[in-house]
Amino acid sequence: MARLDGKVAVITGGASGIGESAVRLFVAEGARVVIGDVQEERARALAAELGSATRAVVADVREDRAVAGLVATAVDEFGALDVMYNNAGVGMVEGEIADAPEETFDFVTAINLKGVWLGIKHAARRMREHGGGAIISTASVAGLHGFERQAVYAMTKAGVISLTRSAAAEGGPHGIRVNCICPGGIVTPLSAPSPRAAEIVAERFADIHPLGRAGQPIDIAQAALWLAGDESSLVTGQAIVVDGGWSSVDARWQRLIGQMSDRNRAGVRPDGAPLGAE
Ligand SMILES: NC(=O)c1ccc[n+]([C@@H]2O[C@H](COP(=O)([O-])OP(=O)(O)OC[C@H]3O[C@@H](n4cnc5c(N)ncnc54)[C@H](O)[C@@H]3O)[C@@H](O)[C@H]2O)c1
Repeated sequence: MARLDGKVAVITGGASGIGESAVRLFVAEGARVVIGDVQEERARALAAELGSATRAVVADVREDRAVAGLVATAVDEFGALDVMYNNAGVGMVEGEIADAPEETFDFVTAINLKGVWLGIKHAARRMREHGGGAIISTASVAGLHGFERQAVYAMTKAGVISLTRSAAAEGGPHGIRVNCICPGGIVTPLSAPSPRAAEIVAERFADIHPLGRAGQPIDIAQAALWLAGDESSLVTGQAIVVDGGWSSVDARWQRLIGQMSDRNRAGVRPDGAPLGAE
């Protein structure tokens, strides 16, 4: 028996990257999936490829009616909503807070935070009347720390973690489990918009992850699969970190120590003089 046999899921941002990987994995594990995305062509092509277990719906997660429509499509087309995966998100280099335009705040917050709030709201409304379910959202390790030049992004992801905890408290009595995933550096069109960028970004992520490799969308999809399925039935209110160990170490300190030991191996002091020099 497949791990999501008989379950119906909505996955926002399902046309690309982590969301696309989750759509493929969930369908392979027996789920029927509504793909919600603003990228119409990609969403429709994916649904056409995967066949009758999927529906593609053009939906902007900033809009209440669009998110309600995703839940309605799951119920109308597949008869249920067992899993809501609020994954759609945007990231950008915002610049320092002192320089960033107001529009950046509104744009990133509307998608990454309000979009998740709307997803939780409409899913919980349906699930509390129908025996519960699993709600998953994509946060980020950026939500666990301060992040230079991406303050709004980091703030929205911290907000997703907070929403997850509050929604878990409200959903518990109704059998609704609410969790989020904090990915580390994952090679997707968001982090690397071109094949050349993907190579460079993969090297950088490998460098900052103690495990020594960049994350791939499937790494996050696998965590989502576990949170969506019955194996995680006692897990709620959690921010599950999937980041190759990134958040467990201080990257700057690690770099400094690395540079110091490189210098030691090369026999030089931090000021460039040979070790042992007066
Ligand atoms: N790639 C990483 O390193 C990384 C790390 C941590 C967290 N994340 C998070 O993972 C999630 C997925 O990102 P990804 O890396 O797969 O990027 P991606 O760009 O490949 O996928 C994001 C998807 O969201 C969709 N989307 C954007 N705005 C939308 C809107 N208003 N309504 C509906 N859909 C919308 C996009 O069209 C796209 O298909 C995001 O929430 C992102 O913040 C990514």
